[in-house]
Order: sequence, then C-alpha cells, then structure tokens
Amino acid sequence: MFVNAKEMLQKAAKGKYAVAQININNLEWTRAVLTIAEELKSPVILGVTGGAAKWMGGFKTAADMARAMDASLGVTVPVAIHLDHGTYDQCLACVEAGFTSIMFDGSHFPFDENVAKTTEMIGIAHKNGMTIEAEVGAIGGEEDGVVGSGEVADPAECKAIADLGVDFLAAGIGNIHGVYPENWTGLDFAVLEKIAGLTGGMPLVLHGGTGIPADMIKKAISLGVAKINVNTECQLSFAAATRKYIEDGKDKVGKGFDPRKLLQPGFEAIRQTVREKFELFGSVGKA
Ligand code: 13P
Repeated sequence: MFVNAKEMLQKAAKGKYAVAQININNLEWTRAVLTIAEELKSPVILGVTGGAAKWMGGFKTAADMARAMDASLGVTVPVAIHLDHGTYDQCLACVEAGFTSIMFDGSHFPFDENVAKTTEMIGIAHKNGMTIEAEVGAIGGEEDGVVGSGEVADPAECKAIADLGVDFLAAGIGNIHGVYPENWTGLDFAVLEKIAGLTGGMPLVLHGGTGIPADMIKKAISLGVAKINVNTECQLSFAAATRKYIEDGKDKVGKGFDPRKLLQPGFEAIRQTVREKFELFGSVGKA
C-alpha cells in the first residue's frame, strides 16, 4: 500500500516509536525491505537519494519498480517512497515520478533562502498529496555526494521552519551520515529537547541511523524522534555477506555464479539488518 508518510509518522510520534527510512539501491534492496516490513507488520519508508535513483535508471524507474513490486508481492503494510536530501530540481522530478514524499534539503542555504525555497516546495508537495521533510542544521558526513558538516540546529530556526507547514523535520543534533568516528561525542539531547518543545509534537527525523547506540536511539524516540534514516548499515551488511560468499569460493561451485545465488546472502543480510532496526525502533506490529 503506497501512501505518503503523514499518518504513519503522526501515529509514531504519538505512540513513541519511530518508523525506519531504509534507503534502497536496487531491486534486491527493495524486495528485502518490503518483504521484512510485511513479515513484521511494520510501516516503512523507502528512501531514495539522487545518486541511487541515477543508478536505478532515474526517479521514475525507482518509483515504478517499487510500486509494482509492492503490488506483486501483495504488501499490505503502509509504504512511502521518499526522496532523501533532495535539491530543488530533484524534488520537482519526484513529483513527476510518482513519489509519495520528498525531503527538500535547504540546510546549506542561508536561513532566509531555506525558508523561501522550503515554503515553495511545501505548496507543491501538498498540492500533489505528498508529504515533505525539511532540514535545519546540516547532517555531518557524506551520502551520495551530499556532504554536511555536522551542525547542531538552532531550535528557533527549527520552529520557524516547522511553522511553515512541513510534515516532519530533520534537525542536526550531532548526527553524522556513515560510520561514526571513534571520537564522536554523541547526540545532543538538550538541543533535541528544546526543538521538540518548540515544535509541539511535530515528528522529528534522525538522519545517520547507522551505528547510533541503542540507548541513544531509545532516548531520541522518547524525546520526539519519529523517523530514523538508515542507509550505510544495510550497505555494510550486504557487502560483508557477499564478500563471505566469494571468499568461501561458493561462486565457483556448480551454478554458484548465478546472480540469484550470488546476491542471496546479501539480500538476507539486509533483511536481518532491517529486522533489527524495526525491533529497536519499536515499529513491529504497528502497521
Ligand atoms: P546512514 O547512512 O548513516 O545510515 O544515514 C542514512 C541517512 O541519514 C539517510 O538520509
């Protein structure tokens, strides 16, 4: 069931759990996420970066593939397909391509420009029945060429952007895309608490979900985080399982080179990673 992310995130914010945004890269990734979401009766958001869309042949290919698969597999849980860290042009392309949700990332613009562009994009998204996420305070690290310096958001700016009418808000609180460095000082809960207080129940988004310790995830959810994005962790588990298959020489045994055999361990590894995230975030059985 393809939907926008409004209802699932409002329910999550009220129920004190978080819906996972799992980024997809190809057909196998999509099938892994959809099948485990259905099995565990969890709502899910399929995240697509500009880079991943390019790899899959464009935003429309990604959206049509995911939608067709959702229908063919008979998936009954709510699924949103969401542009991750979209530019202005990518947001417009995703409206055309049939996405149900977009993130407009104006965090690198001067604040006034972020406000103006986000306002315009809110109008376009809502006119098309889509939900929209905005960002204040760039997320650190690098994801598909989008580089952020890891700012901690200004709570007053978060309130100003929330008041424009976005559906959910990503605020930098020391989170970073990719693997966290050894000297990472953790999430800034004092700032998160202030942002949650000022934005009054708006579902908040935590990017950089890979490698955040479970206790920090739980605390963030208790303070208003209702959507957590995970990308790198699935890539790492896919790569490790695929590496093991090759290093064990299994591709050289019989028809072990068949892509459906070669990709199977990685596919199962993604399912296991996503299962762990749904369990940790508390979304199992919430569809
Ligand atoms: P990770 O790659 O660190 O899991 O972050 C994903 C993300 O925030 C997508 O926007």
